Amino acid sequence: KQAKLIVDKDFVVGEVDKRIYGSFIEHLGRAVYGGIYEKDHPQADEQGFRSDVLELVKGLDVPIVRYPGGNFVSGYNWEDGVGPLDQRPRRLELAWRTIEPNWIGFNEFMDWCRKANTDAMMAVNLGTRGPDEARNLLEYSNHPSGTYWSDLRVQHGYKDPHNVKTWCLGNEMDGPWQIGAKTAVEYGRIASETAKVMRWVDPTIELVACGSSAIGMPTFPDWEATVLDLAYNDVDYISLHQYYGNREKDTANFLAQSVGMDSFINTVISTADFVQAKKRSKKKINLSFDEWNVWFHSNESDKKLDPWQIAPPQLEDIYTQEDALVVGCMLISLLKRADRVKMACIAQLVNVIAPIMTTNGGAAWKQTIYYPYMHASVFGRGEVLVPLVSSPKHDTKDFTDVPYVEAVAVHNEEKQEVTVFAVNRHLEESISFDIDLRSFGQGRILEHIVLENDDLSASNTGDAPNRVTPHTNGSAALSDKGQIQAVLNKASWNVIRIK
Ligand code: AHR
Repeated sequence: KQAKLIVDKDFVVGEVDKRIYGSFIEHLGRAVYGGIYEKDHPQADEQGFRSDVLELVKGLDVPIVRYPGGNFVSGYNWEDGVGPLDQRPRRLELAWRTIEPNWIGFNEFMDWCRKANTDAMMAVNLGTRGPDEARNLLEYSNHPSGTYWSDLRVQHGYKDPHNVKTWCLGNEMDGPWQIGAKTAVEYGRIASETAKVMRWVDPTIELVACGSSAIGMPTFPDWEATVLDLAYNDVDYISLHQYYGNREKDTANFLAQSVGMDSFINTVISTADFVQAKKRSKKKINLSFDEWNVWFHSNESDKKLDPWQIAPPQLEDIYTQEDALVVGCMLISLLKRADRVKMACIAQLVNVIAPIMTTNGGAAWKQTIYYPYMHASVFGRGEVLVPLVSSPKHDTKDFTDVPYVEAVAVHNEEKQEVTVFAVNRHLEESISFDIDLRSFGQGRILEHIVLENDDLSASNTGDAPNRVTPHTNGSAALSDKGQIQAVLNKASWNVIRIK
């Protein structure tokens, strides 16, 4: 079987906004307690942050981290998490039925972000609360001093404002599971009013409105059309969330799911542009795909957990080689629409459906999905080139004409490098892959990284953290005609770096 990618220096989809390699930390399970923070851990720093976890996070070069939720934010009082530790309340946390001790809150999270070389993407509670608490939090965060909330921050030991630029107006407000879920009209109005007062506090911020919780929501895409109709001028981005799983043990169909992600992205763009046309507006709304990943392995064990524990092991998916391929395809989907997808967050970062796992008091290690995410984040900066891909195709249960090969190329002008990301979805056969770089002329292969495993269910665990790791023995080489030829092994993720 044969596939081909043609790209040209002059045909550009768009500049990669580095924030598409964002991630997410929610007060959920062991993401915070036992994940980024564990004060009695041998590798905890002076604030109780795990330095082993910080090192793994830095390896991903994560530009932005969404916080504090997720479903959690819709019942959260941010004031509970600031000020003297001994005065912070313990609360029943209704989204995940746990106890929230509030050992970590906004200021500590900002400290962690500085240590992790990342920025925060804050979410405000539009479930049980509204514009008042949102504007107070923003004043506490970004106003220099001389007002009630900014002076309280100074009193809490943070003289300089945190200057958080990106704010999400609630979370998944269309979902019946959400605390304080709303209709599109209810949400569109509250999002608009909250945005208005937040911008009055700090006009430099960027705001994300909640889109649908998934493409399968019954209100999709009317939700987007209504919300944007009511809040178009007040917001900058509309969010998308999507998780995939292989519950039916149909791997071909599972690996094809990113085709659905492509159409989700394209439909949200069309819907936003429809509202733009209706409003005769010059402004474009861009996309924030601020929750995406594979999530299904832990569903059954989560049902058996007792409620009202502090930081129980929730949503602890152990990822396989197969999942890493889906994550690779999802990254390619985001890159293909770099013109409109300006932010995205793999959900989440540590322990909770995460590329990084830990044991309490013990080790931290990389899950299989760490690798495609790291490769894209580290090598996928620059301009995405229009990908002309020809590939043999197949049908799966939910999709027709699914290309076996997904591929995209990113040109980094500064480093004079082109990086091709490619997945071969074929479960039995390798595929010959030609890359025609047209106006780039002849290149030199820097490396061809491959993530593959004969066992698609292979995963990394605390005992065997390196069962699934990439190698650099990929076959990419220059052909006589100056093109690049590679073999994409069956069920593999490939990174071909060319100078
Ligand atoms: O990331 C886990 C959960 O998934 C988030 O809390 C919620 O927003 C989504 O449903």
